[in-house]
Amino acid sequence: MSEKYFIKTYGCQMNVYDSHRMAMMLEDMGYQKAEAQADADLVLFNTCHIREKAAEKLFSDLGRALIIKNEREEKGLKTIIGVAGCVVQAEDEQILKRAPYVDFALGPLTYHRLPEILKQIKNKKNTGVVDTDFPAESKFDFLPENKAEGGCSFLAIQEGCNNFCTYCVVPYTRGVEYSRPVEDVIDEAKRLIETGTLEINLLGQNVNSYHGEDKNGKERNLAYLLNKMAELDGLKRLRYTTSYPADVDDDLIKCHHDIQILMPYLHLPVQSGSNRILKAMNRRHTRETYIEVVQKLKQANRMLEMSSDFIVGFPGETDEDFEQTLDLVDQIKYIQAFSFKYSKRPGTPAAVMENQVSEKIKKERLDVLQTKLFALQDEFNQKCVGKTFDVLFEQKGRHKGQLIGRTPYMQNVHAAAKDEMMGKICKLKITDATTNSLTGKVI
Ligand code: SAH
Ligand code: SF4
Ligand code: F3S
Repeated sequence: MSEKYFIKTYGCQMNVYDSHRMAMMLEDMGYQKAEAQADADLVLFNTCHIREKAAEKLFSDLGRALIIKNEREEKGLKTIIGVAGCVVQAEDEQILKRAPYVDFALGPLTYHRLPEILKQIKNKKNTGVVDTDFPAESKFDFLPENKAEGGCSFLAIQEGCNNFCTYCVVPYTRGVEYSRPVEDVIDEAKRLIETGTLEINLLGQNVNSYHGEDKNGKERNLAYLLNKMAELDGLKRLRYTTSYPADVDDDLIKCHHDIQILMPYLHLPVQSGSNRILKAMNRRHTRETYIEVVQKLKQANRMLEMSSDFIVGFPGETDEDFEQTLDLVDQIKYIQAFSFKYSKRPGTPAAVMENQVSEKIKKERLDVLQTKLFALQDEFNQKCVGKTFDVLFEQKGRHKGQLIGRTPYMQNVHAAAKDEMMGKICKLKITDATTNSLTGKVI
């Protein structure tokens, strides 16, 4: 019987992509996906370090993994426990100090070494390996070919970030920015399409600063890459995330007018509506330049809608600063957004700034902001009732005969549909809406 793997993924879409690539490597080695953690011979946690809570979750999950490992041991079954992702890069050897039963830990830039490390562990040549290199080689050159898992796929076109927002760990956990060559991206996209993908979401932490080389060694921007992607036969939907507001250039704005398959939805994190706070965050945009970019994007495509990320309670944030954030939300009318309480991250400049905001105020501000954001999301969803959308079915619903898909605006839609429709695009009339999802009828 073949061995089984279980991967738990925390954090951003980049981690979802990395987990998928690791799963593909394991399947190439003969592993099969386990339905439950208790059935797995290899348990892998792909971790996130962005906020304190995210990182702490790992250690409670590891504690539980040890219990399961011991229970399996009693039945004569061995379990390998591994950790990957951004916590590994940040904590390094500390992981083994806190959880000595962890067999290996790989950083986000070294997970292509997974097969080799597993072999060493199995041959008892090595245990407790921690590999947090920032290697000279690119992991992408060592990974086996990617394959689609369904109708929607992520495709990482970039790694790392050079922006150093003062609150953020990413430049430390994923290193300096690296853009994959244009040809590599196109080749991977072709394989994803051949294996069933209809939608590709190009990923990077600052994806619109993409500057990969083409065949002739010439640097190309994201707009160039999007145009190349749009030429691919069989690709029906194109997205890119996450963009940095100051790096949205006119070429990219033009794409939102010219490229039919580019979805009319853009995640453009603003973080705060106060210029004073944006400056302290080391974001290179102001409230005014951000609004201007959104206006230009909406002029390029009238159907475009926006989403964003917000941090409340950044050090020094006053009631007036927070009011400016609320006011910006009213102006832009985001249709979806993520909002977080500022979380101190060791080693980042903001962690040692004066005037840290109390937990109580952070919570109050988050409640106020989220109430506003949810109201806008609900308003948009209600406006969709009666309209017809192309929906790409991505997963089975809780009830038999039900599938869940997504509209161009990333809203979840529940509908009665046959299993054969999974991974396909269907026209749906929206019949009902709540804040979090829509209901539709296949037409
Ligand atoms: N590269 C993306 C976002 C990466 S992290 C960008 O620049 O927009 C995802 C989100 O987590 C960020 O947009 C921010 O809103 C939030 N975040 C990052 N560091 C945080 C911290 N220390 N505390 C709270 N939220 C944080
Ligand atoms: Fe972090 Fe800023 Fe880079 Fe986004 S742009 S990953 S928030 S440093
Ligand atoms: Fe988290 Fe690393 Fe992504 S810290 S948000 S998993 S880049």
